[in-house]
Amino acid sequence: MSIKSIALGATMFLTMMAGAAQAESISVFCGATDYDLCVKAADAWKAKTGNEAKINKMPALLDDAIPLYQQLLAAKSPDVDVLFLDVIWLGMFKNNLLDLKGKIPQADIDAHFKSTVGAGEINGELIAMPAYMDVGLMFYRKDLLEKYGKPEPKTWDELAATAKEIQDKERAAGNGDMWGYTWQAKSYEGLTCDAIELIASNGGGTIISDDGKVTIDNPEAAEAITRAKGWIGTITPEGVLNYDEEASRAVFEAGNSVFHRNWPYVWGTSQTAGGKIVGKVGMMPLPVGKEGQKSSGCLGPMYFGASKYTTHPELSAEFIAFITGPEMQKMRAVEGAYSPSISALYSDPDVLAKLPFLKDTAPAFADSAARPSGYTGTSYNRVSQAFYRAVHDMLSGEADVKADLTSLAAKLEKLKESR
Ligand code: GLC
Repeated sequence: MSIKSIALGATMFLTMMAGAAQAESISVFCGATDYDLCVKAADAWKAKTGNEAKINKMPALLDDAIPLYQQLLAAKSPDVDVLFLDVIWLGMFKNNLLDLKGKIPQADIDAHFKSTVGAGEINGELIAMPAYMDVGLMFYRKDLLEKYGKPEPKTWDELAATAKEIQDKERAAGNGDMWGYTWQAKSYEGLTCDAIELIASNGGGTIISDDGKVTIDNPEAAEAITRAKGWIGTITPEGVLNYDEEASRAVFEAGNSVFHRNWPYVWGTSQTAGGKIVGKVGMMPLPVGKEGQKSSGCLGPMYFGASKYTTHPELSAEFIAFITGPEMQKMRAVEGAYSPSISALYSDPDVLAKLPFLKDTAPAFADSAARPSGYTGTSYNRVSQAFYRAVHDMLSGEADVKADLTSLAAKLEKLKESR
């Protein structure tokens, strides 16, 4: 054996040993709808660092992850390192999340929209980094509005009238399955979003104000809920009372809904090659209840944070910086239509080419309505549950909406203080 080949063998051995010593593995939770994109990010991270991020798929309904997280965190389990977090959970889990300050370069933090990254900063600690922006938007059948010579509706009543007219004409023309408007009214967090949008855009506030005042018992809120109740069975199928995002999306993407409320990802799913409505979809901010009011899409950015009980704090922070960084946010935007939280990506030509809706929906981000999770903190989940259950009852029964809002307000007065 020559000296050269011994030296080569030794170098290979040392490289292998170094690799084996360095390669580490962390366990990460990711959303069900963007699971594939997370796996892609994990693959890219492995190629770059040699480390492995095992991706666990969260339950289809985000709400169902709350008890799972509560259990893992209460048990101080080291089995999970990185958590995917809804903006409304940050207050709820803040005491169980690692402070990422000093672990993620300041320049990476500063690249995100200030208010979005700001929601991840609680009591001086950076407990989560934004993965993408989410805001409730209106999708519509551009082809059908054009066919019937209708403009984009500006108010909810205009939307309902256009929806009814097109629905009826399409049914008369042979599409018996056509509906005017699909949205989410199952008894779950998504209904809190849909209802806040209707109420806030009607001048009725966001349930509890930023300074903790219960505002829900007001005539504008009653009017907004009553208006939506009137849609069910006329322009919206009765099934809406059991629709979440995915169930309602299926109706729209089957070509059976003129208007559809959902999150930006539906641009990606509805424009995938081979789909029934490719090239037929327009997007706009949600309508307003009354002239002079603001379109009030529910604000729902998603975050990644690390468990306080991780045995890999540095590596978890490194992974979070990577998956929330520009390269991966661009990948999510281009491949899945997830709106970036990094401002520079809004002038990236590849992103703009794939997401032409960004220019039409920019005001929706500016005028979005936040749920009252800032003030309510750990009690947010109970507050939201009381709200969506009450609204579900109002939408489904013969309820007296005004009286129900009064009793809901009394209930919320108690719940909001148990934070
Ligand atoms: C989306 C939003 C999230 C919201 C959820 C409701 O995932 O990002 O903020 O809570 O929808 O279903």
